[in-house]
Amino acid sequence: MRELVVVVGTRPEIIKMAPVIRAAEGTFDRYLVHTGQHYDAEMSGAFFEALDLPAPDENLEIGSGTQGEQTADGLVGVERLLLERDPAAAVALGDTNAVLSTALAASKLSTTFGHVEAGLRSFDRSMPEEVNRVVADHVADLSFAPTGQAVANLAEEGVTDGVHETGNTIVDACREHAPLAAERSAVLERFDLEGCYAAATIHRASNTDDPERLRAIMDALDGASAPVVLPAHPRTRGVLDEIGYEPSGSLRLVEPLDYLDFLKLLDAARVVVTDSGGIQEEASILEVPCLTVRPNTERPETVEAGVNELVEPGELGARLDALLTDDDAHDAMTGHPDLYGDGRAGERIVDALAAEFD
Ligand code: UD1
Ligand code: UDP
Repeated sequence: MRELVVVVGTRPEIIKMAPVIRAAEGTFDRYLVHTGQHYDAEMSGAFFEALDLPAPDENLEIGSGTQGEQTADGLVGVERLLLERDPAAAVALGDTNAVLSTALAASKLSTTFGHVEAGLRSFDRSMPEEVNRVVADHVADLSFAPTGQAVANLAEEGVTDGVHETGNTIVDACREHAPLAAERSAVLERFDLEGCYAAATIHRASNTDDPERLRAIMDALDGASAPVVLPAHPRTRGVLDEIGYEPSGSLRLVEPLDYLDFLKLLDAARVVVTDSGGIQEEASILEVPCLTVRPNTERPETVEAGVNELVEPGELGARLDALLTDDDAHDAMTGHPDLYGDGRAGERIVDALAAEFD
């Protein structure tokens, strides 16, 4: 059987690549590579367990570091293993440094490179993720675009060959795991959550690198009129520890959750506050109103559909309380806009990859 090298590096890549890894069984020999960018058990190993994935065949153990260190270490590691294995193709997902490393290594070796979640644009080049996306999209042989807008973004930059509109694998992941989460997760009991609460996550560099901005976001969450549960990304936890931030009101800082616990926490929340990419998507799928603490988003379809709003830290407290207490404000942001496809993105991606070699 032909070999497919699948590269992941961080939490969201493990979650969203899982449907591709599963769908590839029987069509490709899968060689699963973890760059090791995320390495804490609760940021990495827990997801292989919760998603019932095979352990990585290889871990490059690049760990934490600057953008350059992570990209360079990943590039050297992925190049070496592509030379050793000579696979039919390599795939990576999204906009992390693992994607940039894989895109550069594969394209220079003329290994077919498939970019999953191609074509997203925030049009904000100050984000490392935007640079990674643009480069990956321009060297990819196959672009798996989740939405029509992503296809249009690629076309606008002259990328039209090998583009497939597949839907987003987050729908596959969410549909498969939300019922399991409902059945198996005891997260609400563990955190004693009855009734109305908000879920929150904050980790984006633009929100954590400036401690005053991070403090303003945390203060807004802490002042909410209902409990706010925030599983803290280690990056965020690190800055909060440095500045000695202790919530004294509604905010509850907890450890990162595994996928089933997080899906249950999100699904039952009245509102979610985030700067995550994947959570903007999941909120629309699970019909939870979303406040995104960013000046822009590469998921504009959620904002256009009225289920996601971009907010600045100074506006966050008021908007959060409106959604927690005012049914009309809350209901105006719910609905099922069906933005990301039918839950068969993994299958389509593997079919398109297989067709390349038939
Ligand atoms: C990375 C991605 C981002 C993605 C996020 C998912 C890039 C450029 N950024 O950001 O797009 O949204 O992953 O969560 O690739 N740390 C730990 N343990 C870990 C991992 C990280 O303690 O297992 C801490 C370290 O202090 C590290 C910091 O978190 O320096 C940031 O981690 P890093 O992987 O560099 O970036 P993320 O913010 O996680
Ligand atoms: N997630 C999780 N546990 C948590 C926080 C997030 O399982 O404690 C999941 C969430 O459901 C989503 C993904 O992690 O699928 C998003 O990852 P993250 O926000 O780290 O990265 P981004 O999507 O912004 O790149």
